Amino acid sequence: MRLRSLAIRNYRSIRRLQVEFPEGLLGIVGHNGAGKSSLLEAVAWALYGTPAVRTRAEAVATIGVSDPCQVRLEFDLGGEAFRLERVLKPSSTTAELARGDELLAEGAREVSDYVTERLLRMDYQTFYASIFTRQGELDKFVNMSSEPRRQAVERLLGISDVRDAGQRARQQKRDLGNRLEGLRSQLIARDGEPLQPRLVTELAELRERSAALTKAGKPLEAALETATLQDAQAVKAWEQVEANAEKYRTAEKRRDAAQGALKLAGERLQNAQKTLDNSYKKEKEAAELRSATAASDAPGKLAALREKQATVEKELQELAAGKGKLDAALAASGRELASEQKHLQEIRELGAESECPTCERPLGEHGAALMGRIADEIEALEQQQRETSAALETLAQTSKATDSRGAALGKQEEKLRGAEAAHAAQLARLRDLEQALARKPELEQQLAELQAREQAARTEQEAAHAALAKLEFDPQAHARARQQREVVAAALSEAKLALERHRGELARAGDGVKAKQAELERVERAQAQIGEAEAELERFGLLEQLLKGFRSHITSRIAPTLAAHTSRRLAQLTDGRYTQVEIDGSDYSLKVFDGVEAHSLDRFSGGEADAFSLALRLSISQLLAERAGTEMGLVVLDEVLGSQDELRQRRVLEGLERMAQSVGQVILVTHIESIKDHLPHVWELVLDDERGTVLREL
Ligand SMILES: Nc1ncnc2c1ncn2[C@@H]1O[C@H](COP(=O)(O)OP(=O)(O)OP(=O)(O)O)[C@@H](O)[C@H]1O
Ligand SMILES: [Mg+2]
Repeated sequence: MRLRSLAIRNYRSIRRLQVEFPEGLLGIVGHNGAGKSSLLEAVAWALYGTPAVRTRAEAVATIGVSDPCQVRLEFDLGGEAFRLERVLKPSSTTAELARGDELLAEGAREVSDYVTERLLRMDYQTFYASIFTRQGELDKFVNMSSEPRRQAVERLLGISDVRDAGQRARQQKRDLGNRLEGLRSQLIARDGEPLQPRLVTELAELRERSAALTKAGKPLEAALETATLQDAQAVKAWEQVEANAEKYRTAEKRRDAAQGALKLAGERLQNAQKTLDNSYKKEKEAAELRSATAASDAPGKLAALREKQATVEKELQELAAGKGKLDAALAASGRELASEQKHLQEIRELGAESECPTCERPLGEHGAALMGRIADEIEALEQQQRETSAALETLAQTSKATDSRGAALGKQEEKLRGAEAAHAAQLARLRDLEQALARKPELEQQLAELQAREQAARTEQEAAHAALAKLEFDPQAHARARQQREVVAAALSEAKLALERHRGELARAGDGVKAKQAELERVERAQAQIGEAEAELERFGLLEQLLKGFRSHITSRIAPTLAAHTSRRLAQLTDGRYTQVEIDGSDYSLKVFDGVEAHSLDRFSGGEADAFSLALRLSISQLLAERAGTEMGLVVLDEVLGSQDELRQRRVLEGLERMAQSVGQVILVTHIESIKDHLPHVWELVLDDERGTVLREL
């Protein structure tokens, strides 16, 4: 892998950055917090996304900036150019990976998966454990536990493919073994005897039985034919008899209908006769009523009485009016009398000295005269009253006599009203009778018609009887024919059933033959497959052995090769102080010889252990770069010099420069300013308050 260019927007302290990577050894220098690690981390983020960064996903976006965080990386791998872009927006992350113009993957997750599985063929942890050394993680590789470290090395160097192939071969062998077992079990019957010869015998037996059944079917078919013929004859005979019977039933119906009609006509005739007889009686009654009503004088008498009653009523009204007048006159004279008497009394009480109440002059000697006049008037008024009362008495007597005349007339009226009501009832009845009698000619006409109809019904009945008698129908012969037909039909369905049953049996026998045949074929196929599977099993066994041998051959070479590389590099880094390491082929753990004895890393100083780890990491990268097929020409080292003294730092730089020639691209990040002068390419990063990280190529 060769990095070509990097464009960053808003990644941590880097607001805007665009660089082209040089070949060979590149140093990135700058003070603490300048943005060195951020620049490298942006590369890892573009490749692997969130898991590859040291913080939460959102924390990579520059604080206080709302524009998207964006990294665009161009690199070469295996002779082809790739372009990778990852963009973090507030709501989502997008990513795109392309080879030339061809889009290889799209989407944050998809791009990471593509890089892991198909492009670099390592996950981000292996990436950080081998070619990309993160700040403070120099010893990550030696500190890994045995099994993950073995897996990481084997995956990095492609040995895991051989191992996987071996495992697949083993699995195939296992599957084939199971299959063979299954196939072999198909050749054995439940009782443990071989299945094939038994099936052959059974099939022959079944075929024989089927042939016998085919033969047995012939007489059954002949029987069905005979029964079908007989049934046809019986049906024909039956149809003739039945046609005759049908005619007879029709004639019977006609006779019954004629009888019914005759009965009905007789009943109607009787009814009509009765109605007519009745009207003769009514005629008589009407004649009697006519003479009775003509003789009645009740209405005339009642009219005369009403006149008399009117006269009496008028007299009574006049008497009442006279009484009214007399009562009024009596009352008026009474009032006048009282007034005069009061007047007289007043004058008596006032005496002669007083004033006249009417003319207001002193009464004096006129008083006595006045009083005499008033007494005369009172006398006259009393006389008048007596006369009026006598007149009223006379009037009362007259009224009483008139009232009793009225009462006598009332009694007479009651009697006359009864007579008149009886008369009216007779008239009403007479009207009804006359109305009924008006229909008499019509009734007579109807009677004549009904008589004719009855006669016609009688003739029809006689004709129907005659027709029935003419038909020669024998119910017993009819019943016999029906029975005969049923017997033949039953025989036919019995023959059909027998043949059907037989055909079912034959079909089942045929199925049995087919099933047995199929079973035999299956067994014979299994026999053939067993041969093939056995040959295949042998081939896979061989393949598994070969792969196993191949893998142990490679791994047996890797550990010594890696140890030789590391030893050389270590001798150079430590100026010959340490010259030999030992790498365990089973888990790639590292031991360093001090004198004749090999020690694990915890026995050495921190700086020494860092130097060993660096030597091992660089050797792995070297080995990767040398491996045919994978071009892993990149080594990234973030702050690996911190624990080394000046001499060792110089040695490391010398070693890296040499390494860059074979590996291709080596990027060293450090805050140690002094190394600037020893490097062919240097980028200096400075943190500017306004613009964020600023890059200067020296
Ligand atoms: N999201 C962010 N937005 C802005 N600045 C950030 C963000 N995340 C981290 N920083 C700051 O960016 C600066 C650069 O950090 P970085 O780790 O790249 O520095 P460095 O150059 O590697 O320093 P050192 O030499 O100490 O390792 C730091 O000051 C850090 O606090
Ligand atoms: Mg840093």
